[in-house]
Amino acid sequence: MESRNIRLAVIPGDGIGAEVVAEGLKVLEAVGTKIEATHYDLGAARYHRTGETLPDAVLEELRGYDAILLGAVGDPSVPPGILERDLLLRLRFTFDHYVNLRPVKLFPGVETPLADTSAEDIDMIVVREGTEGLYAGTGGAMRRGTPHEIATQESLNTAYGVERVVRYAFEKARSRPRKKLTLVHKTNVLTFAGDLWQRTVNQVAEEFPEVATDYCHIDAASMYFVTQPERFDVVVTDNLFGDIITDLGAAIAGGIGLAASGNVNPDRTAPSMFEPVHGSAPDIAGQAKADPTATILSVAMLLDHLGLRAEAARVEQAVADDIVERPAGGVGRSTHEIGDDITARVSS
Ligand code: NAI
Ligand code: MG
Repeated sequence: MESRNIRLAVIPGDGIGAEVVAEGLKVLEAVGTKIEATHYDLGAARYHRTGETLPDAVLEELRGYDAILLGAVGDPSVPPGILERDLLLRLRFTFDHYVNLRPVKLFPGVETPLADTSAEDIDMIVVREGTEGLYAGTGGAMRRGTPHEIATQESLNTAYGVERVVRYAFEKARSRPRKKLTLVHKTNVLTFAGDLWQRTVNQVAEEFPEVATDYCHIDAASMYFVTQPERFDVVVTDNLFGDIITDLGAAIAGGIGLAASGNVNPDRTAPSMFEPVHGSAPDIAGQAKADPTATILSVAMLLDHLGLRAEAARVEQAVADDIVERPAGGVGRSTHEIGDDITARVSS
């Protein structure tokens, strides 16, 4: 593995995206991997300049890479939905990123808003389905703008799609010390989709006798994330519930500046894409105030996905060592100072 060249497509995107991605790349280089990084200019700036979000030719070119590193896209000047649907969701759907992996882990030394909670209490991973559910884009509107407007938005759940993500989650749970999987849904109200999810979990569970399974309604899970986060090890859930609950996860584990994610195609039929959970933060863009840690942790996930486990562990350890020395309140270093400090730890 040592001598392998990683072919990486980099989409810095908008706002703080470019600032945090630069630090992620620094760390990636310091870890000793040979990377061939190609930058792609996509996002709000390109949209304004050319009207393009994700040209077909670029999409096909991206398919040829080992992985994609994304900063963030979005700007208040672009109507909502355009970059989300035509760029981000298009990448996730086309490259079949059916697993959206979001670790929720409290590093020692990080402040959590939860009282009497320590690092051992928050160490879970949310496996969010990434290609179906309410994000599939089915539905429509008629009589728009009139008092008789009708709008529908349907949640699409296929046996195939649910099974593959549930199976992935069970495998993940089996590889972790606690070996526990919790399905989070709303089976009591969303009876059709919920039934499919619950039956699938029950069926796949038979192949994983060493994994303990549990179930929580999404509303109760939101409460338990705050009152009993230690309840969770691996959480598997649908696209929308996963989107929402992982923001709560980020909040309890030290904030959006630390939350990493991977849009993973476990079958490796297309490149997986790693990105911080946060957006382009226009309020602090260009001021070197953004915390690059979420991106650096996303780089660790990227290395892990490419089979570079030791390198991934080194990056995560460097982050942990850096975090433990951060002053309470988090004041101090600029984006590149944090990046430099973590890079130095990785290189040493
Ligand atoms: P946001 O995550 O960009 O910002 C929310 C708040 O968190 C802001 O106060 C921001 O300053 C702060 N923040 C975010 N990242 C930070 C970091 N690394 N260090 C320190 N503080 C940080 O979410 P918001 O404001 O809702 O969205 C801004 C734009 O980003 C929108 O256009 C939105 O559509 C887009 N967006 C893009 C995402 C992506 O590319 N995957 C994800 C979420 C939002
Ligand atoms: Mg979100």
